[in-house]
Amino acid sequence: MITRHFSVFELESAAQLLRSEELVAFPTETVYGLGANAMSTTAVSKIFEAKGRPSDNPLIVHIAVLSQLATICREVPTVASQFISQLWPGALTIVLPKTDEVPDLVTAGLDTVAVRFPNHSIALELIRFAGVPLAAPSANRSGRPSATTWQSVAEDLDGRIAGLICGEPTAFGLESTVVDATNYPPRVLRPGGVSLEQLREVCPSTVPYNLEPSTDSTKSSTNSPGLRHKHYQPRAKVFVVSAELESTEFTAAIASNVVAHYIGVHSPSMPMRFASIRVCSDLSEYGAVLFDFFRKADSAAADVVCCESVEELGIGVALMDRMRRASK
Ligand code: TXA
Ligand code: MG
Repeated sequence: MITRHFSVFELESAAQLLRSEELVAFPTETVYGLGANAMSTTAVSKIFEAKGRPSDNPLIVHIAVLSQLATICREVPTVASQFISQLWPGALTIVLPKTDEVPDLVTAGLDTVAVRFPNHSIALELIRFAGVPLAAPSANRSGRPSATTWQSVAEDLDGRIAGLICGEPTAFGLESTVVDATNYPPRVLRPGGVSLEQLREVCPSTVPYNLEPSTDSTKSSTNSPGLRHKHYQPRAKVFVVSAELESTEFTAAIASNVVAHYIGVHSPSMPMRFASIRVCSDLSEYGAVLFDFFRKADSAAADVVCCESVEELGIGVALMDRMRRASK
Protein backbone atom coordinates (compact mmCIF):
# COMPACT_ATOMS: atom_id res chain seq x y z
CA MET A 1 0.00 0.00 0.00
CA ILE A 2 1.22 3.50 -0.81
CA THR A 3 0.47 6.00 1.94
CA ARG A 4 -0.91 9.30 0.61
CA HIS A 5 0.53 12.34 2.36
CA PHE A 6 -2.01 15.15 2.64
CA SER A 7 -1.46 18.82 3.45
CA VAL A 8 -3.78 20.37 6.03
CA PHE A 9 -5.69 21.93 3.11
CA GLU A 10 -6.73 18.52 1.75
CA LEU A 11 -8.86 17.27 4.62
CA GLU A 12 -11.90 16.58 2.42
CA SER A 13 -9.88 14.08 0.33
CA ALA A 14 -8.44 12.49 3.47
CA ALA A 15 -11.96 12.15 4.92
CA GLN A 16 -12.99 10.34 1.72
CA LEU A 17 -10.53 7.57 2.66
CA LEU A 18 -12.04 7.38 6.16
CA ARG A 19 -15.51 7.04 4.62
CA SER A 20 -14.16 4.11 2.56
CA GLU A 21 -13.09 2.36 5.79
CA GLU A 22 -9.40 3.18 5.33
CA LEU A 23 -6.94 4.53 7.94
CA VAL A 24 -5.77 8.15 8.10
CA ALA A 25 -3.26 9.48 10.65
CA PHE A 26 -3.86 13.04 11.85
CA PRO A 27 -2.46 15.57 14.33
CA THR A 28 -4.12 16.38 17.67
CA GLU A 29 -2.92 18.60 20.52
CA THR A 30 -1.49 15.57 22.38
CA VAL A 31 0.08 13.15 19.86
CA TYR A 32 -0.74 12.06 16.29
CA GLY A 33 -3.70 9.67 16.12
CA LEU A 34 -4.35 6.80 13.71
CA GLY A 35 -8.00 7.26 12.72
CA ALA A 36 -10.66 4.87 11.46
CA ASN A 37 -14.47 5.02 11.33
CA ALA A 38 -15.28 3.98 14.91
CA MET A 39 -18.62 2.47 13.91
CA SER A 40 -17.10 0.01 11.40
CA THR A 41 -15.47 -3.24 12.53
CA THR A 42 -13.76 -3.54 9.12
CA ALA A 43 -12.15 -0.12 9.46
CA VAL A 44 -11.17 -0.59 13.12
CA SER A 45 -9.62 -4.01 12.51
CA LYS A 46 -7.14 -2.29 10.16
CA ILE A 47 -5.85 -0.22 13.12
CA PHE A 48 -4.79 -3.33 15.03
CA GLU A 49 -3.17 -4.76 11.91
CA ALA A 50 -1.25 -1.59 10.98
CA LYS A 51 0.04 -0.97 14.50
CA GLY A 52 0.63 -4.59 15.46
CA ARG A 53 -1.54 -3.77 18.47
CA PRO A 54 -2.91 -6.52 20.75
CA SER A 55 -6.69 -6.64 20.29
CA ASP A 56 -7.30 -6.70 24.06
CA ASN A 57 -6.23 -3.03 24.29
CA PRO A 58 -9.28 -0.80 23.62
CA LEU A 59 -9.28 2.40 21.55
CA ILE A 60 -10.29 6.01 22.21
CA VAL A 61 -13.22 7.32 20.15
CA HIS A 62 -12.81 10.94 19.01
CA ILE A 63 -15.78 13.23 18.44
CA ALA A 64 -16.13 16.75 17.04
CA VAL A 65 -19.66 17.68 18.17
CA LEU A 66 -21.32 16.77 21.45
CA SER A 67 -24.33 15.32 19.63
CA GLN A 68 -22.07 12.43 18.52
CA LEU A 69 -21.99 11.27 22.17
CA ALA A 70 -25.53 9.92 21.88
CA THR A 71 -24.53 7.32 19.26
CA ILE A 72 -21.69 5.92 21.37
CA CYS A 73 -22.69 6.39 25.05
CA ARG A 74 -25.67 4.90 26.83
CA GLU A 75 -25.64 7.59 29.50
CA VAL A 76 -23.49 10.46 30.69
CA PRO A 77 -23.14 10.39 34.49
CA THR A 78 -23.34 13.79 36.23
CA VAL A 79 -19.63 13.95 37.00
CA ALA A 80 -18.84 13.20 33.35
CA SER A 81 -21.03 16.09 32.18
CA GLN A 82 -19.14 18.35 34.58
CA PHE A 83 -15.78 17.24 33.13
CA ILE A 84 -17.22 17.73 29.64
CA SER A 85 -18.44 21.26 30.25
CA GLN A 86 -15.23 22.35 32.02
CA LEU A 87 -12.45 20.46 30.22
CA TRP A 88 -13.63 19.66 26.68
CA PRO A 89 -12.41 20.17 24.06
CA GLY A 90 -9.06 19.05 25.43
CA ALA A 91 -6.56 16.39 26.43
CA LEU A 92 -9.08 14.48 28.53
CA THR A 93 -10.47 11.05 27.63
CA ILE A 94 -13.57 10.02 29.57
CA VAL A 95 -14.59 6.37 30.00
CA LEU A 96 -18.39 6.05 29.74
CA PRO A 97 -21.01 3.28 29.40
CA LYS A 98 -21.17 2.27 25.72
CA THR A 99 -24.09 1.76 23.34
CA ASP A 100 -24.53 -1.45 21.32
CA GLU A 101 -23.65 0.43 18.14
CA VAL A 102 -19.98 0.68 19.15
CA PRO A 103 -18.23 -2.43 17.77
CA ASP A 104 -16.75 -4.76 20.41
CA LEU A 105 -13.39 -4.49 18.68
CA VAL A 106 -13.19 -0.79 19.64
CA THR A 107 -13.67 -1.50 23.33
CA ALA A 108 -11.98 -4.92 23.48
CA GLY A 109 -15.30 -6.39 24.58
CA LEU A 110 -15.75 -4.01 27.54
CA ASP A 111 -19.17 -2.43 28.17
CA THR A 112 -17.50 0.98 28.41
CA VAL A 113 -16.06 3.28 25.75
CA ALA A 114 -13.29 5.89 26.07
CA VAL A 115 -14.25 9.21 24.41
CA ARG A 116 -12.29 12.36 23.63
CA PHE A 117 -13.20 15.72 22.07
CA PRO A 118 -9.79 16.99 20.93
CA ASN A 119 -8.84 20.67 21.01
CA HIS A 120 -7.25 20.82 17.58
CA SER A 121 -8.77 22.46 14.51
CA ILE A 122 -7.38 19.94 11.98
CA ALA A 123 -8.56 16.94 14.00
CA LEU A 124 -12.01 18.46 14.48
CA GLU A 125 -12.40 19.38 10.82
CA LEU A 126 -11.34 15.90 9.72
CA ILE A 127 -13.89 14.24 12.04
CA ARG A 128 -16.61 16.58 10.74
CA PHE A 129 -15.74 15.83 7.10
CA ALA A 130 -15.70 12.10 7.86
CA GLY A 131 -19.17 12.45 9.40
CA VAL A 132 -18.52 9.73 11.99
CA PRO A 133 -16.64 9.44 15.28
CA LEU A 134 -13.05 8.28 14.74
CA ALA A 135 -11.41 5.52 16.75
CA ALA A 136 -7.79 6.59 17.06
CA PRO A 137 -4.91 5.22 19.08
CA SER A 138 -1.55 6.97 19.00
CA ALA A 139 -0.09 6.68 15.48
CA ASN A 140 2.99 4.59 16.25
CA ARG A 141 3.90 0.92 15.86
CA SER A 142 2.80 -0.84 19.05
CA GLY A 143 5.41 -0.50 21.84
CA ARG A 144 7.24 2.43 20.17
CA PRO A 145 7.15 5.99 21.53
CA SER A 146 4.01 7.86 20.39
CA ALA A 147 4.48 10.00 17.28
CA THR A 148 4.54 13.77 17.83
CA THR A 149 5.50 14.75 14.25
CA TRP A 150 4.18 13.55 10.89
CA GLN A 151 7.70 12.37 10.06
CA SER A 152 7.58 9.97 13.06
CA VAL A 153 4.21 8.65 11.87
CA ALA A 154 5.69 8.08 8.41
CA GLU A 155 8.72 6.30 9.91
CA ASP A 156 6.45 3.80 11.69
CA LEU A 157 3.44 3.48 9.40
CA ASP A 158 4.23 4.48 5.78
CA GLY A 159 3.13 1.64 3.54
CA ARG A 160 0.74 0.31 6.19
CA ILE A 161 -1.96 3.03 6.16
CA ALA A 162 -3.91 4.82 3.42
CA GLY A 163 -3.34 8.44 4.47
CA LEU A 164 -1.34 10.78 6.67
CA ILE A 165 -2.13 14.43 7.32
CA CYS A 166 1.16 16.31 7.52
CA GLY A 167 0.40 18.93 10.18
CA GLU A 168 2.55 20.68 12.74
CA PRO A 169 4.39 18.89 15.56
CA THR A 170 1.93 18.32 18.42
CA ALA A 171 1.87 21.01 21.12
CA PHE A 172 1.56 18.89 24.26
CA GLY A 173 3.56 15.84 23.13
CA LEU A 174 2.22 13.33 25.70
CA GLU A 175 -1.12 11.50 25.47
CA SER A 176 -4.43 12.55 27.03
CA THR A 177 -5.46 11.86 30.60
CA VAL A 178 -7.87 8.90 30.81
CA VAL A 179 -10.49 9.17 33.57
CA ASP A 180 -13.07 6.51 34.39
CA ALA A 181 -16.40 8.25 35.03
CA THR A 182 -18.54 5.09 35.07
CA ASN A 183 -18.25 4.86 38.88
CA TYR A 184 -18.20 7.52 41.59
CA PRO A 185 -15.72 8.85 42.52
CA PRO A 186 -14.06 9.09 39.10
CA ARG A 187 -10.61 7.59 38.82
CA VAL A 188 -7.57 8.51 36.73
CA LEU A 189 -6.48 5.49 34.67
CA ARG A 190 -3.67 7.26 32.81
CA PRO A 191 -2.09 10.63 33.65
CA GLY A 192 -1.76 13.00 30.68
CA GLY A 193 -2.51 16.44 29.31
CA VAL A 194 -5.08 17.37 31.96
CA SER A 195 -3.65 17.33 35.49
CA LEU A 196 -5.18 15.82 38.63
CA GLU A 197 -5.38 19.36 40.01
CA GLN A 198 -7.57 20.41 37.04
CA LEU A 199 -9.82 17.35 37.47
CA ARG A 200 -10.15 18.06 41.18
CA GLU A 201 -11.26 21.63 40.50
CA VAL A 202 -14.28 20.01 38.84
CA CYS A 203 -14.62 16.98 41.15
CA PRO A 204 -12.53 17.21 44.36
CA SER A 205 -12.85 13.47 45.13
CA THR A 206 -11.24 12.34 41.85
CA VAL A 207 -8.98 9.36 42.65
CA PRO A 208 -5.38 9.87 41.51
CA TYR A 209 -3.60 7.59 39.09
CA ASN A 210 -1.89 4.69 40.81
CA LEU A 211 1.29 3.58 39.11
CA GLU A 212 1.22 0.18 40.79
CA PRO A 213 -2.43 -0.86 40.41
CA SER A 214 -3.81 -3.52 42.72
CA THR A 215 -2.43 -7.01 42.16
CA ASP A 216 -6.02 -8.14 41.81
CA SER A 217 -5.57 -8.94 38.12
CA THR A 218 -9.29 -9.08 37.31
CA LYS A 219 -9.75 -5.56 38.63
CA SER A 220 -6.75 -3.86 37.08
CA SER A 221 -7.22 -5.58 33.74
CA THR A 222 -10.90 -4.65 33.50
CA ASN A 223 -10.30 -1.05 34.44
CA SER A 224 -7.05 -0.17 32.70
CA PRO A 225 -6.40 -2.59 29.88
CA GLY A 226 -3.55 -0.53 28.42
CA LEU A 227 -1.50 -0.83 31.62
CA ARG A 228 -0.69 -4.45 30.84
CA HIS A 229 1.12 -3.63 27.64
CA LYS A 230 4.62 -2.39 26.90
CA HIS A 231 4.70 1.28 26.03
CA TYR A 232 6.83 4.20 25.01
CA GLN A 233 10.03 2.25 24.60
CA PRO A 234 12.93 3.34 22.47
CA ARG A 235 15.58 0.76 21.62
CA ALA A 236 18.10 2.59 23.83
CA LYS A 237 18.09 1.78 27.56
CA VAL A 238 16.36 4.58 29.46
CA PHE A 239 17.43 5.76 32.93
CA VAL A 240 15.49 8.24 35.06
CA VAL A 241 18.16 10.18 36.97
CA SER A 242 18.74 13.43 38.82
CA ALA A 243 20.81 16.11 37.03
CA GLU A 244 23.62 15.16 39.43
CA LEU A 245 23.43 11.67 37.91
CA GLU A 246 23.22 9.96 41.29
CA SER A 247 22.04 6.58 40.10
CA THR A 248 24.31 3.66 40.80
CA GLU A 249 22.76 1.65 38.02
CA PHE A 250 23.36 4.53 35.65
CA THR A 251 26.95 5.07 36.80
CA ALA A 252 27.64 1.42 36.05
CA ALA A 253 26.03 1.78 32.62
CA ILE A 254 28.13 4.75 31.51
CA ALA A 255 31.32 3.42 33.06
CA SER A 256 31.64 1.29 29.94
CA ASN A 257 32.02 2.85 26.53
CA VAL A 258 28.40 3.55 25.69
CA VAL A 259 26.82 6.31 23.60
CA ALA A 260 24.61 8.22 26.03
CA HIS A 261 22.08 11.02 25.44
CA TYR A 262 20.65 13.31 28.12
CA ILE A 263 17.38 15.25 28.42
CA GLY A 264 16.16 17.36 31.33
CA VAL A 265 15.54 20.87 32.62
CA HIS A 266 19.04 21.24 34.12
CA SER A 267 22.44 20.63 32.57
CA PRO A 268 23.90 17.27 33.62
CA SER A 269 26.85 17.24 35.98
CA MET A 270 29.10 15.34 33.53
CA PRO A 271 28.32 16.90 30.12
CA MET A 272 31.39 15.39 28.46
CA ARG A 273 29.90 11.92 28.92
CA PHE A 274 26.99 12.66 26.59
CA ALA A 275 26.90 12.62 22.79
CA SER A 276 23.72 14.71 22.86
CA ILE A 277 22.25 17.00 25.53
CA ARG A 278 18.83 18.65 25.47
CA VAL A 279 18.14 21.15 28.27
CA CYS A 280 14.48 22.21 28.18
CA SER A 281 13.33 25.56 29.54
CA ASP A 282 10.36 24.09 31.43
CA LEU A 283 8.20 20.99 31.92
CA SER A 284 5.94 21.87 28.99
CA GLU A 285 8.86 21.84 26.59
CA TYR A 286 10.20 18.65 28.23
CA GLY A 287 6.88 16.89 27.67
CA ALA A 288 6.57 18.21 24.14
CA VAL A 289 9.96 16.90 22.97
CA LEU A 290 10.45 13.71 25.05
CA PHE A 291 9.13 11.14 22.54
CA ASP A 292 10.95 12.83 19.67
CA PHE A 293 14.15 12.79 21.73
CA PHE A 294 13.72 9.01 22.22
CA ARG A 295 13.27 8.50 18.50
CA LYS A 296 16.32 10.64 17.66
CA ALA A 297 18.38 8.65 20.15
CA ASP A 298 17.40 5.50 18.28
CA SER A 299 18.32 7.01 14.89
CA ALA A 300 21.71 7.98 16.33
CA ALA A 301 22.11 4.40 17.67
CA ALA A 302 22.46 5.66 21.25
CA ASP A 303 22.83 2.90 23.85
CA VAL A 304 21.51 4.92 26.76
CA VAL A 305 19.10 7.83 27.30
CA CYS A 306 19.18 9.63 30.66
CA CYS A 307 16.02 11.53 31.57
CA GLU A 308 16.13 13.95 34.46
CA SER A 309 13.42 13.14 37.01
CA VAL A 310 10.87 15.88 37.77
CA GLU A 311 8.52 16.68 40.61
CA GLU A 312 5.24 14.78 40.33
CA LEU A 313 2.92 17.74 40.25
CA GLY A 314 0.80 19.02 37.36
CA ILE A 315 2.08 17.62 34.05
CA GLY A 316 5.10 16.25 35.97
CA VAL A 317 2.92 13.22 36.81
CA ALA A 318 2.41 12.31 33.14
CA LEU A 319 6.04 13.03 32.29
CA MET A 320 7.37 10.78 35.08
CA ASP A 321 4.88 8.05 34.10
CA ARG A 322 6.10 7.98 30.49
CA MET A 323 9.77 8.05 31.52
CA ARG A 324 9.31 5.23 34.04
CA ARG A 325 7.49 3.06 31.54
CA ALA A 326 10.22 3.72 28.97
CA SER A 327 12.83 2.68 31.52
CA LYS A 328 11.24 -0.71 32.30
O1 TXA B 1 -3.85 11.64 23.50
C1 TXA B 1 -4.38 10.56 23.25
O2 TXA B 1 -5.14 9.98 24.06
C2 TXA B 1 -4.07 9.91 21.91
C3 TXA B 1 -4.68 10.79 20.81
C4 TXA B 1 -4.55 10.20 19.45
O3 TXA B 1 -6.03 11.05 21.13
N1 TXA B 1 -4.55 8.56 21.84
C5 TXA B 1 -4.01 7.55 22.57
O4 TXA B 1 -4.58 6.31 22.36
O5 TXA B 1 -3.10 7.70 23.34
P1 TXA B 1 -3.93 4.93 22.84
O6 TXA B 1 -4.73 3.87 22.15
O7 TXA B 1 -2.49 4.93 22.59
O8 TXA B 1 -4.29 4.86 24.36
C6 TXA B 1 -5.62 4.62 24.79
C7 TXA B 1 -5.65 4.33 26.27
C8 TXA B 1 -5.11 2.95 26.57
O9 TXA B 1 -4.34 2.99 27.76
C9 TXA B 1 -6.38 2.13 26.75
O10 TXA B 1 -6.20 1.00 27.55
C10 TXA B 1 -7.31 3.14 27.39
O11 TXA B 1 -7.01 4.35 26.72
N2 TXA B 1 -8.72 2.79 27.17
C11 TXA B 1 -9.41 2.80 26.00
N3 TXA B 1 -10.68 2.38 26.18
C12 TXA B 1 -10.82 2.14 27.49
C13 TXA B 1 -11.92 1.69 28.31
N4 TXA B 1 -13.11 1.40 27.80
N5 TXA B 1 -11.69 1.55 29.63
C14 TXA B 1 -10.47 1.84 30.17
N6 TXA B 1 -9.40 2.26 29.45
C15 TXA B 1 -9.58 2.40 28.14
MG1 MG C 1 -0.44 4.50 22.46
